[in-house]
Amino acid sequence: MSKFAKLTLDDGRTIELPVIEGTEHEKAIDITKLRAQTGYITIDSGYMNTGATMSKITFLDGENGILRYRGYDIAELCEKSSFLEVSYLLIYGQLPTETQFADFRLKIKYHSLIHEDMKNFFNNYPGQAHPMAIMSSMVCSLSSYYPDLLKSDQTSEERDATITRILSKVRVLAAFAYKRSVGQAFVYPKNSYSYIPNFLNMMFAVPAEEYQVDPVATRALELLLILHADHEQNCSTSTVRLVGSSKANLFASISAGICALWGPLHGGANQEVLEMLQAIHDDGGDYKKFLEKAKDKTNPFRLMGFGHRVYKNFDPRAKIIKKACDDLLAKWGINDPLLEIAKGLEEAALKDPYFIERKLYPNVDFYSGIIYRAMGLPTNMFTVMFAIGRMPGWIAQWKEMIEDPGMKIGRPRQIYTGATPRTYSSIDQRK
Ligand code: CMC
Repeated sequence: MSKFAKLTLDDGRTIELPVIEGTEHEKAIDITKLRAQTGYITIDSGYMNTGATMSKITFLDGENGILRYRGYDIAELCEKSSFLEVSYLLIYGQLPTETQFADFRLKIKYHSLIHEDMKNFFNNYPGQAHPMAIMSSMVCSLSSYYPDLLKSDQTSEERDATITRILSKVRVLAAFAYKRSVGQAFVYPKNSYSYIPNFLNMMFAVPAEEYQVDPVATRALELLLILHADHEQNCSTSTVRLVGSSKANLFASISAGICALWGPLHGGANQEVLEMLQAIHDDGGDYKKFLEKAKDKTNPFRLMGFGHRVYKNFDPRAKIIKKACDDLLAKWGINDPLLEIAKGLEEAALKDPYFIERKLYPNVDFYSGIIYRAMGLPTNMFTVMFAIGRMPGWIAQWKEMIEDPGMKIGRPRQIYTGATPRTYSSIDQRK
C-alpha cells in the first residue's frame, strides 16, 4: 500500500507527498514534484535532511554505529577480505568469483604505468606543494592521455578500462607525489607485487638499499583502505556525483572529489589531528587545556578527529582503527607519546558533558594518523591515503549514477535574499 505524508501550506492548501522506504526501513518524503505542484522549494542548509539519491552501495546507521558495504558488515570485511576484493564488491555490487577477481587483479596490475611525460608535471611542482593538490591535478591530467575514454556514452568495457586505470594509477601518482616532496627518485610499479606491497615499494624503496615490504604494514594499510572505501553521500562523494551528473568524465569527477576531501572538516582532518596532537605534546602534554579550548565558543578551535554528521553513538571505523593502532605499535615496539595523548584526550572528552550532550565521539581520522606516522608517512600524505582508500567508493557511486536511466544533472535551487531591482548609476554619482 502506498504511503503519503500530508503537507499543509501557509495558504491553507494541503498536498500529499509520497513516502519512500529503503530496504533498512529508513523513510523519506518524496518532494520531486513539490515545486511543480505548489511553487515552493525546500531549504536544508548543509543537506542535513536531504536525500540526494537512492543507492544500493553503502548502508550507514549513525544512531547504532552500523556501516555495511553492499550488505556486508565493515568489521567482517576488515577481518576476512582485501582492499581489492572490497573495491570489486563496491563497484560491481557482488563479491567476485575466482575468475572475475583474477581478471580484475590482472587489469589493475597491467594498467599501473603512467605516461612518461607525466613525470615532468611532478618535477615542475615546488618541493613544498601539498600532495593533495598534486593528486587532484594528476588524476584530472590522466584524462589527457585517454581521449577515447572521455565520451559520456561509454560501453561497459570502456567504463571498466577507465575504472581499473584509475584504481591502479592512483598509487603511482601518490607515490610519485611523495617522492617529489622528499626529493627522491621515482620508483616504478613492479608487477610482481600485489596492490598494497607495490604501493609501499614505490613509496619507500630507494636505489641505495634493498627494500623489504613489511607484511605488518601491508595488513595495516589494507585495513585502513577498506575502512575508508565508501561512506555513502559524504561531502567528497556528493561532489563526485554532482560533477559526474553533468556527464563530466570519471577522471574529472574524481579529481573534484579529491579537492573536496582535502578540507579539514572532511578527509583533511587526519592531518589536522596529528598536528593537534603534536601541538599538545610540544605545549607540555596538557590535553585538558585543549579540551577547554574546543568547548569555548569564542574560540574557533575544534577537537579534530571528533564529531560526525551522521554518527551519533560511535564511529565503527574508529573502534577498529583504535585497536589496530594499539596492536601495530605493540608489534613494532613503538612507544608513541602522541598515542598516549590521543587516548587521554578521548577519555576526557567522553566524560565531558559538552561532548556527551552533542554526541561527539572519535571519528575515523582520530587514530589513523598515528598508524600512518608509525609507517613513516609524513603528515601531508595522510589525506592522500584517505583518497586512495575512497577511490572505489567514488567510482561505485559515479557508476551507479551514470547507469541510472533516470539520472538528472544536479542543480539545487535557492531562496534569493539579495537586493530587489535597482537602477545603475555611473561611478561619479556614487557616494
Ligand atoms: N570540537 C568541538 N565542538 C564540536 C566539534 C569538535 N570537533 N564538532 C562539533 N562540535 C560542536 C559544534 O560547535 C556544535 O556546537 P553547538 O551546538 O553548541 O553550536 C555542535 O557540536 C554540532 O556541530 P556541527 O558543526 O553543527 O555538526 P556538523 O554535523 O555540521 O559537523 C563535523 C560535523 C565532522 C564537521 C564536526 O563535528 C567537526 O568539525 N569535527 C572536526 C573535524 C573532523 O574531525 N572531521 C572529520 C569527520 S570524519 C571523516 C569524514 O568522513 O569526513
